[in-house]
Amino acid sequence: MVNGRGAEGQGSVGARFPRPETSEMNTKEMMVTEKKRTGILGVGKYLPEKVLTNADLEKMVDTSDEWIVTRTGIKERRIAAKDEAASDMAVKAARCALNNAGLKPEDIDLIIVATITPDMFFPSTACQVQHKLGIKKVPAFDISVACSGFIYGLAIADQFIKGGMYKRALVIASEKLSAITDWEDRSTCILFGDGAGAAVLSQVDKGGILGVNLGADGDKGDLLQLPAGGSRMPASKKTVEDKLHTIKMEGNTLFKHAVKIMADAALAVANPLGLKGDDIDLIIPHQANLRILNALAKRMGVDPAKKVYLNIEKYGNMSAASSAVALCEAVEEGRIKRGDTILMDAFGGGLTWGALIIKW
Ligand code: ACO
Repeated sequence: MVNGRGAEGQGSVGARFPRPETSEMNTKEMMVTEKKRTGILGVGKYLPEKVLTNADLEKMVDTSDEWIVTRTGIKERRIAAKDEAASDMAVKAARCALNNAGLKPEDIDLIIVATITPDMFFPSTACQVQHKLGIKKVPAFDISVACSGFIYGLAIADQFIKGGMYKRALVIASEKLSAITDWEDRSTCILFGDGAGAAVLSQVDKGGILGVNLGADGDKGDLLQLPAGGSRMPASKKTVEDKLHTIKMEGNTLFKHAVKIMADAALAVANPLGLKGDDIDLIIPHQANLRILNALAKRMGVDPAKKVYLNIEKYGNMSAASSAVALCEAVEEGRIKRGDTILMDAFGGGLTWGALIIKW
């Protein structure tokens, strides 16, 4: 455990972030004394071609572009093709990340896929990705953490790499939420989209992951769930008729939790590192709702226009893939430069949350 200053000149001067209100926050900072940390060598993304606009949705349910933009910030989202599953999108994002890292599939010795829309229960999507990339023998597994999945995946890979068990990890977040969306429910179908993002991680000489905060509140699991299809309620004619294989969400209650959870997680990882708002160059948040992100920026004391990366307008909420794609696009657009301090922050079904600070 760490207390005190961040690494490599990241020590803060002046006021710190306020302390998070939830004392139960499970903070595990990994840091500062170690010479070598885990860094990201390359990022990648894949977005399906088909664009579903708010105008399209106006023809499907009783909604309006004005309502969707005002309440969520979303203008359009991508929809995967019928024959395009999570592993197909994951492989494309992974190839892109490997390419950007200057590595080949055979350089990878650990594969983690974050998804709540796997191709099937088993084999895991990660095993299918491994097969499609032609990587032999290395461990491959899925994690089901909803929207926080990419950050959980980065944190798990970080531990394996720091522990010396594996050298180069591929962490992928891939979601085909369109496959589990009730397209007649206007309160949910306007929110979600499909896509994938990926990162290649390895030990680095400079920068790297400075700290992580992960957590979950299982008692709030019923706020966001896919009720049927598992061992509790196996698929039947009735579960299909009752639309229990699609996302059920208490949006308004979730919204209130989301603002607090994301802010608390961010503060829980930043405070022990001695980092304050000015020390963070860019926040890469899970893109659930523009209003949630503006509230987060306010609580962090940062200007949302300058310090919060947004692409929700183009893609909506892609669950775990949202923060992965956002990270990739922020790099592509030059919003992240070598030496920058980046805060990633997400919450999702479970409820789960994850925040991570990385020096690029
Ligand atoms: N178009 C028009 N009206 C609508 C629509 C729509 N698409 N959806 C709901 N409404 C109506 C409601 O029926 C309600 O009408 P009423 O006042 O007559 O009853 C009114 O709009 C307000 O509804 P609320 O649900 O209170 O609207 P809210 O401002 O909370 O916005 C939203 C809804 C956008 C879903 C918001 O609550 C939200 O973003 N919640 C968080 C979602 C989220 O982050 N999910 C977690 C991550 S997802 C994951 O982990 C996979």
